[in-house]
Amino acid sequence: MKILGIETSCDETAAAIVRNGVEVLSNEVYSQVAQHEPYGGVVPELASRCHVEVLPGVVGRALAAAGQAWPGVDAIAVTYGPGLASSLLIGVAAAKSLALRLNKPLRGVNHLEAHLYSVFLGEHAPDPHVVCPLLVLLVTGGHTCLVLVREPGVYQLLGRTLDDAAGEALDKGASLLGLRYPGGPAIEVAAGEGNPVAIAFPRGLRQGNASQQVHGMRRDLCFSFSGLKTSLLYHLKKHPDAIANGGLPDLAASYQEAVFQALLDRTRRALEHTGAAHVACVGGVARNQRLGRLLGELSRAMGVQIHQTQPGYCTDNAAMIAALAGSGWPHASIDLMMEDIDPNLAIRSA
Ligand code: KG4
Ligand code: ZN
Repeated sequence: MKILGIETSCDETAAAIVRNGVEVLSNEVYSQVAQHEPYGGVVPELASRCHVEVLPGVVGRALAAAGQAWPGVDAIAVTYGPGLASSLLIGVAAAKSLALRLNKPLRGVNHLEAHLYSVFLGEHAPDPHVVCPLLVLLVTGGHTCLVLVREPGVYQLLGRTLDDAAGEALDKGASLLGLRYPGGPAIEVAAGEGNPVAIAFPRGLRQGNASQQVHGMRRDLCFSFSGLKTSLLYHLKKHPDAIANGGLPDLAASYQEAVFQALLDRTRRALEHTGAAHVACVGGVARNQRLGRLLGELSRAMGVQIHQTQPGYCTDNAAMIAALAGSGWPHASIDLMMEDIDPNLAIRSA
């Protein structure tokens, strides 16, 4: 079963061919960073226009790289949410036309559930039947949550951010520091040899006790990052010459560390709470090497096994979309012929 995946939920235009839910035959990603960079963030109108322009070429390259012609494609899978409405519409419209033209099934995939599945892609990836229940820290530009994958296709949302996502906090912090978009990788580079404990930035939500609930989740498993960027703003106002005086590495390293220590603290609690023996990190922020090292240290200290997602499957890609659609997992995708996009689609929490 070979599936063509299409992903256009934000500012990456991507297409991939995946066989039987695991074998990635091609994975093409066109990043729109250059288009959005002058504005310091994603401009939805620009993103959707760019998807229209580049998607046909990206799909063509995915087919060519996989050595496939149209008759070899058994189904089309596409992200139908969550994401930018105007961007989702382009991918879904293209996928629908292809499915009608080729007379193949059209499967709609949840972008966040595909991120959760991304840890199972690539060489040396773990076997889901062996590592579940698996605790997953999902950290992207728009979402930050802790999900227990109890068994393939059965998710339990344990906690999530109550305001900004971790990637968003890095992007906004980078902008305050005068760094380029996207901010996560820019902060990682700027942090370089900087001291991560040079400046004491707040590390998220004040501790509550385990019995406090928010939106049906334990408060001490939830995140909050909006105060952090305000704290950076005040710090820069108080020390206007900090960057000119060579303070950027310490500032970037300390800010990044505040984000990561909040992620680690909730991950540790979630591991204690669930007793899961396996942990993974997925989404764009999972590309960060310091976060990977810190999670590695945490897992060793707690005697749990960590599974690192391959860098190419962390940031947005279509391989994870085609792979989840072909995984055979329960409720992995929906028949999209009669359905529409859903910009606010959530993970199906059991
Ligand atoms: O998963 P993703 O590509 O898109 C969304 O679904 O949002 O994640 C994008 C986010 C951005 O906030 C970006 O700054 C962050 O991932 N990111 C990183 C790194 N690479 C990308 N954050 C920290 N370190 C990185 N190396
Ligand atoms: Zn994403």
